[in-house]
Amino acid sequence: MSATRYLPENRTLGSLADAAAHCQGCSLFADATQTVFGRGRRRAPIMLVGEQPGDQEDRAGAPFVGPAGRLLARALEDADIDPALTYQTNAVKHFKFTRKGGKRRIHQKPNRTEVVACQPWLIAEIDAVRPHVIVCLGATAAQSLLGTAFRVSAQRGEALRLPAALDMHLDPEPIVLATVHPSAVLRDRSERHGEAYRLFVDDLRLASRC
Ligand code: URA
Repeated sequence: MSATRYLPENRTLGSLADAAAHCQGCSLFADATQTVFGRGRRRAPIMLVGEQPGDQEDRAGAPFVGPAGRLLARALEDADIDPALTYQTNAVKHFKFTRKGGKRRIHQKPNRTEVVACQPWLIAEIDAVRPHVIVCLGATAAQSLLGTAFRVSAQRGEALRLPAALDMHLDPEPIVLATVHPSAVLRDRSERHGEAYRLFVDDLRLASRC
């Protein structure tokens, strides 16, 4: 399973998005409404990489338009980052879900095979956008780019580089930094919620300073 054979020869953001709309590189295309490709402009200095589109993103065809996206938008504002300076995408481009009680679609975490199958799109987006900094939002995004041994809990906020194994040779090389996923902040309804949100904003601020 891999998206590689769906990648166009000419790789602009537009041609990539058009080609990704027809991707059947793993089985997730079958139940999803559509491919949710990244959003933003070429040369955006900050690339934000989430896990996969959620229910609302799947319907809208755009990343980060649901509850996690709204928290992310607020955090960007609090970190003084203009959203126009970001390119927002996901490690996996189709919504993976199970059905509960007939209609309700419950998010399911993509497995390693699905993340690896979709990685060529993410690599192609990085190559087309050429961001200065890539912020991995949560473990799925971080492990897609930095490998399965990566632990957000241990290495959150560290300024890293893309592994040589990805063979990207970008000049200048982007800095890669991982933080938690905005939905983890959203789900934390304990007394620690405020602190979790502040730390998330701090990580975004750190990224913007890179
Ligand atoms: N969560 C993600 O990781 N990405 C989205 O686009 C929406 C929710």
